[in-house]
This record gives sequence, structure tokens and C-alpha cells, in this order.
Amino acid sequence: MTDNAPAHAAGPRTAGTDRASRILVTGGAGFIGSAHVRALLGPDGPGGAVTVLDSLTYAGSLARLAEVRDDPRFTFAHGSVCDAELVDALVADHGQIVHFAAESHVDRSIAGGADFTRTNVLGTQTLLDAALRHGVSPFLHVSTDEVYGSLPHGAATEESPLAPNSPYAASKAASDLIALAHHRTHGLDVRVTRCSNNFGAHQHPEKLIPRFLAALLDGDSVPLYGDGLQIRDWLHTDDHVRGLELVRTGGRPGEVYNIGGGTSLTNLELTHRLLALCGADSGRIAHVTDRKGHDRRYAVDHTKISTELGYRPRTDFDEALARTVHWYRENRAWWEPLLPARC
Ligand SMILES: NC(=O)c1ccc[n+]([C@@H]2O[C@H](COP(=O)([O-])OP(=O)(O)OC[C@H]3O[C@@H](n4cnc5c(N)ncnc54)[C@H](O)[C@@H]3O)[C@@H](O)[C@H]2O)c1
Repeated sequence: MTDNAPAHAAGPRTAGTDRASRILVTGGAGFIGSAHVRALLGPDGPGGAVTVLDSLTYAGSLARLAEVRDDPRFTFAHGSVCDAELVDALVADHGQIVHFAAESHVDRSIAGGADFTRTNVLGTQTLLDAALRHGVSPFLHVSTDEVYGSLPHGAATEESPLAPNSPYAASKAASDLIALAHHRTHGLDVRVTRCSNNFGAHQHPEKLIPRFLAALLDGDSVPLYGDGLQIRDWLHTDDHVRGLELVRTGGRPGEVYNIGGGTSLTNLELTHRLLALCGADSGRIAHVTDRKGHDRRYAVDHTKISTELGYRPRTDFDEALARTVHWYRENRAWWEPLLPARC
């Protein structure tokens, strides 16, 4: 079977378990969704049935789900969140939704925003319509700190205004508001999370850390946007998944929860750490023209999820970054075919 062939169709494997406990994970073949699915079906998971709905775009890969594919509680449904008929059939069979499916790369949204509006906005609407028809609790909508826009100082709380700048961030902000409107209007149990920049194994090499690692491991220079002084908060997927589970199991309907990692770095600082971990020097940095409309600084305040649900990031950033570097060193066969073709 190729990496992107559907594992098996949706349906029969979920029979016999209680609908309320069955979880539909959209975008579960993606970077973060697959980490959540592996945790849900892992030894510390809740033990119920999990169905992944994923259209396997360039960003989706069943290889990320290899360790759960033979689990009898796991089902894979190949299709789009925009396919109303398929979504209706799946939601009718699942009591909970964790919604990751999205077009997620800012640079692609700058090149063309239509897929972002289609999947991130209309796909979310399609899921919400089905969730209302069949009753779902919770509908956990996974969003991003990018909806708050660039902050010159301070950190965004859940009450901060939404000021998205890229087409990607705008599509996510639109979907957040539509999801929350379904709570306020219809009483649907919608919970929204907004996390910072994720890192870890299995991330597509179009994103900063794996892209730079792929270049360094190939002896190339790393293309750093502008002066590299853009500031991001970094969150390991393990911490993100723990935060998502706290919200899924204990969050309040209609509420937004920020999930941060607690390590704030400029892209230049991050690049120097990657260079050091790969035994390279700053001569390998190639400053390239900055991304259009590049947000200068993101920062999230995660006091609410910490106070209400006991969240705290447990991952040591430097140790986790070293582990991530190790994973990319050891898994070239996974990421190499995903690199853009070279002339
Ligand atoms: N990666 C980050 O740092 C980050 C930060 C904040 C928020 N988020 C959000 O978290 C979620 C997951 O991000 P990720 O980094 O894992 O993304 P990803 O790009 O790795 O994965 C997205 C997944 O969605 C699937 N998908 C795309 N369009 C689809 C459609 N129409 N129907 C069904 N499946 C579809 C893809 O095949 C892929 O498997 C997204 O909603 C993203 O906005 C990500």
C-alpha cells in the first residue's frame, strides 16, 4: 500500500461501541491530528473508538498513523470535510468531534487563499451543520494564536480582539467565530483552542523547523525570512495534545482556551539552536526576502487553561528540539519525498 492509500473505509469497526464515546478526528493524518490520534489510542488514552476523516492532501500522510492502523478501535475514512453527505454519515455515528482538518501553511495562503476559505471555513460549516443535526458533545475546534494577529507587546488572552493578517489566519478566525456562533445560537457544545507554533516529529518539511533541518542535513543553507527577528512561542505536540485532552474532557461549552508552550524565541535564535544541534555555523544562514505581511510577534497567555484545567507545558524545549533533530536525522525516508522538487 502506498503512503497515501486509504487504510480502510469508515463504518463497521465502530459498530458495537457507544456513540457518545466515539470520536471523529478530522485532519487526523496531519501533523498534530495524528499525534492526538496516537495519544487517544495509546496506553494512557480514554479507550474508545476513533475515526479519522482526512482527504490526504499533500499535507496528509497515513505513515503518521502506522502505529494505530491495526488497532480494532481505529477506522480511517478517506474524504473531505466539505463533502456534506460523507460528513453527515460519519457524524451520525460519532458523539464527539475533534476538528483539525485545515489548509495550514501561511505561505500557501499568500500564493492563493481559495482552498483555505473552502476547507477552513466551509468545511467547518459542513461539520457544524452535521453536528447540529445529530447532536455532538463536544465539538472541539482546533485553532491558532495567529487569529490574534501581531502583538507589539504583552500576550493575547482569550478576550483579546481578533486581528488576523494572513489569509490563513483570517480563515481560521472566521471558522472560530462561526463555530462559537453555533454555541451561542443553537447551544451546540463548541470548545475552541488556540495554540502557538507546534513542533515535533512528523511535521511536513514546508514548515520552519523541519525545512531548516532538511536543509542542514543536506549540507545546504537555511532560508531565513528578513532579519529573522519575528518572535514565536513554541509548543511541543505532546503538550498540545495534553491541552486538547484537558479541554475535550473538562472544558466548558462555548469557551475559548489558549494553549502555549512557554518558550518564546526569535526565528534567528531558533535558527542558531538548530545550527548548533546540527554542528553547523552561522555561515549557513541565507537571509531571504521577508514573507509578505509577516507578523512580527505572536504571544499567548495560557492562564485560563492552567487555572481552570491544570494545564502546564511539561516539555523541556531544548531537550525536545534535540529529540526532533534526532527524529529527522533518523527518518529521512519519511521527509525526503515531501521536499519540493529541485531543478
Ligand atoms: N502546526 C501548527 O503549528 C499549528 C499552530 C496552530 C494551529 N494549528 C491548527 O492545527 C490544525 C492541524 O494543524 P497541522 O499542523 O497538523 O496541519 P497539517 O497541514 O499537518 O494537517 C492538516 C490535515 O488536514 C487534512 N485536510 C486538509 N484539507 C482537508 C479536507 N478538506 N478534508 C479533510 N481533511 C483535510 C490534510 O490532509 C492533513 O492531513 C489546523 O487546524 C491548524 O490550523 C496548527
